[in-house]
Amino acid sequence: MTIYTASVTAPVNIATLKYWGKRDTKLNLPTNSSISVTLSQDDLRTLTSAATAPEFERDTLWLNGEPHSIDNERTQNCLRDLRQLRKELESKDTSLPTLSQWKLHIVSENNFPTAAGLASSAAGFAALVSAIAKLYQLPQSTSEISRIARKGSGSACRSLFGGYVAWEMGTAEDGHDSMAVQIADSSDWPQMKACVLVVSDIKKDVSSTQGMQLTVATSELFKERIEHVVPKRFEVMRKAIVEKDFASFAKETMMDSNSFHATCLDSFPPIFYMNDTSKHIISWCHSINQFYGETIVAYTFDAGPNAVLYYLAENELKLFAFIYKLFGSVPGWDKKFTVGQLEAFNQQFES
Ligand code: DP6
Repeated sequence: MTIYTASVTAPVNIATLKYWGKRDTKLNLPTNSSISVTLSQDDLRTLTSAATAPEFERDTLWLNGEPHSIDNERTQNCLRDLRQLRKELESKDTSLPTLSQWKLHIVSENNFPTAAGLASSAAGFAALVSAIAKLYQLPQSTSEISRIARKGSGSACRSLFGGYVAWEMGTAEDGHDSMAVQIADSSDWPQMKACVLVVSDIKKDVSSTQGMQLTVATSELFKERIEHVVPKRFEVMRKAIVEKDFASFAKETMMDSNSFHATCLDSFPPIFYMNDTSKHIISWCHSINQFYGETIVAYTFDAGPNAVLYYLAENELKLFAFIYKLFGSVPGWDKKFTVGQLEAFNQQFES
């Protein structure tokens, strides 16, 4: 039996300007454009392999070693679109094998906790769609393929690109202009680093999909956010990325995380994604920036309590001195600090 296979990895992306709200729930069309940073493939990623053969009897999916239903509407929409594009290719070149008619076997694995606010659905659908696009040898551009990943999970469209990515909301009813584009490659601003503080790896109570529907339906603050706050912030953040202006990037990132969680609190009944530890991390980042008299760290929280911190490589020691102090010692690390001792410590490393 001849089996055709393809494998890809897709990294997690963490939004710095959040997607929160759909104007079309079937097509996953957002109420606002968003921006994210794609993390390195070496850190948080999904590895997906897709295989197809005429002998396969049904479409099957294994997630993290367990069989998983493929009958959900989102996955079906992605498979339908991908098969359609392959069919178009086969009708143009009749010598191609008819992969579009065969069933698929898909195996997918995350190297991080699923559904803990670490954007697992983003990497998951991005990897699923790219693996099949690769298997089918589709000629479409990455942005065009991102429209399909978007139907799986909105934020997934951004994980098709590395670096700094915008998801342009578009205006068309069929969603053909709602796709991801790269603002800058990671090599354009390679000093940027991210650190995930896993506050909890328990599955969240309110899924992003349910949460954003509740916010759209009940929050007054949300209207202000999408009409006035986000459009301005989108331009400021894009400029900050292109100009590598960390202070501006960090300020907009932190303010947008706060604005998003404020609309969650303004939903009725309110949604709480952050817990007390998350709130301590927020105050603590502001204290660190104040302590150094410059912005060295930005926090952001998705639909869960875990923090993602963005910082520049040159400030890693300044930041980690605080992290080790607050979160206890790590293997190989035997120093404990008081805030008063930090200045001397940093000078020692800077000299
Ligand atoms: C808070 O993309 O998971 O992480 O489109 O319903 O699958 P669906 O939602 P999803 O929502 C992500 C929400 C967020 C913000 C973001 O990533 O932009």
